[in-house]
Amino acid sequence: EEDRGFVGAADTDYAEEEGRKKAAEAFAAVRQQLGKTYLPLINGEYVNTSEFVDSLNPSNFSEVVGKVGLINVEQAEQAMQAAKAAFPGWRKTPVQERAKILRKAADLMEERRAELAVWMVLEVGKPVKEADGEVSEAIDFCRYYADEMERLDKGVIYDIPGETNRYIYQPRGIAVVISPWNFPLAIACGMTVAALVSGNCTLLKPAETSSVITAKLTEILIDAGFPKGVFQYVPGKGSQVGAYLVNHPDTHVIAFTGSQEVGCRIYADAAILKPGQKHMKRVIAEMGGKNAIIVDESADLDQAVVGVVQSAFGYSGQKCSACSRVVVLEPIYDTFVQRLVEATKSLNIGEAELPSTQVGPVIDANARDRIREYIEKGKAEAQLALELPAPEHGYFIGPVIFSEVSPNAVISQQEIFGPVLAVIRVKDFQQALAVANGTNYALTGGLYSRTPSHIQQAQAEFEVGNLYINRTITGAIVARQPFGGFKLSGVGSKAGGPDYLLQFLEPRAITENI
Ligand code: SER
Repeated sequence: EEDRGFVGAADTDYAEEEGRKKAAEAFAAVRQQLGKTYLPLINGEYVNTSEFVDSLNPSNFSEVVGKVGLINVEQAEQAMQAAKAAFPGWRKTPVQERAKILRKAADLMEERRAELAVWMVLEVGKPVKEADGEVSEAIDFCRYYADEMERLDKGVIYDIPGETNRYIYQPRGIAVVISPWNFPLAIACGMTVAALVSGNCTLLKPAETSSVITAKLTEILIDAGFPKGVFQYVPGKGSQVGAYLVNHPDTHVIAFTGSQEVGCRIYADAAILKPGQKHMKRVIAEMGGKNAIIVDESADLDQAVVGVVQSAFGYSGQKCSACSRVVVLEPIYDTFVQRLVEATKSLNIGEAELPSTQVGPVIDANARDRIREYIEKGKAEAQLALELPAPEHGYFIGPVIFSEVSPNAVISQQEIFGPVLAVIRVKDFQQALAVANGTNYALTGGLYSRTPSHIQQAQAEFEVGNLYINRTITGAIVARQPFGGFKLSGVGSKAGGPDYLLQFLEPRAITENI
């Protein structure tokens, strides 16, 4: 019952003239910079590459947000050698100094808040308000992990007469961070600064579609003061550079957020001892979800409808925390579906940069095509309750709702990562919980209910890492809702929580007989 008293950064209030003005100025300034080239940062230098990739605006794919240089395997090796060379100095750097760099990075992000949000709007199609919230989350990760490392650095003393016992933590070594495009600033920043503040030299490989934002994060981390070789930005192909770094005998920790398929591959690869390797690798993998919200007959339907719509269609359903199944009890099923469909019809779909937009594009053509295939599967196995039209000049998919979906249907079991919601009818609360738990995943879950026994039962039996009662199931806040799941949703402890940094540290016990 400890209150750690952490206070998070405040989001921009776009109801105020000031917030809107800053956003407009930031859009104008960032638009001037579109199409620039960004290079990898190895051993303190921006290095040239032979391969480049265009990062496109998913709301309007004729717009190139930036060109990003991709490193090859030789350059990945150079980065690894630079990290190894920097490690002895970084591990000796006092925790206060490391923490100070994180706090400086947080301040720089606060100064560049409006600009960073715009880069996210344009590069990954995240609506402005959500992008602004993500800047807050990135700032919170820096400040919270700085505090956390200072707390852990005190160690634990177990002295008895004649003997001192100290329990302390040391860094593991080299960390490889593989970050996702859907929270391109917050999650990349969180994993990276956690590794750094714990004293590990860190290589950050972003998802290709969010490499420009990661280049902006790199500018900030370098300006904040991370020395050369300590932090390196290594954009490259996952199948080459990502795999090379995961398999490298000098890698100690791999922090990954992304698909279950890639997460499982990393976990397996990391387990294989390579020639010359003298340690076992630690893998932290945040993977997918097939998250359900249960709506029972006592629920406040006004609240439930709004919460489900927001959880399912916010950022076009491209959050591992998103609601993709809603499990509704028989007595209210028809009323709920009707109201859900009406509420979803009123969503504004369009370019992420428009202030009125509630549902923007999906990330790229592959995602759009994959989601469309799932929609076709859904049409074959369930009833189509709603399919909204969407513009053609970007990777848009209008929200889709399927009703009368079987709990075992493909669209009830596989993570779609798009604006597609399956509504499942159940006869009672017991069955609702069984259906909600009946997937490979255990990430987020929700319950709308005013029945104390149901709330109690959900707390005990709903198998999810983050359970939300009578509210949305996305938007976890650092140091308030530490975030992460179990089963096939991932391995490792929760981001933004008190156990997170421990994964980047090696504990030691030192006893002296006196
Ligand atoms: N932390 C995010 C959320 O809670 C998901 O990654 O929505």
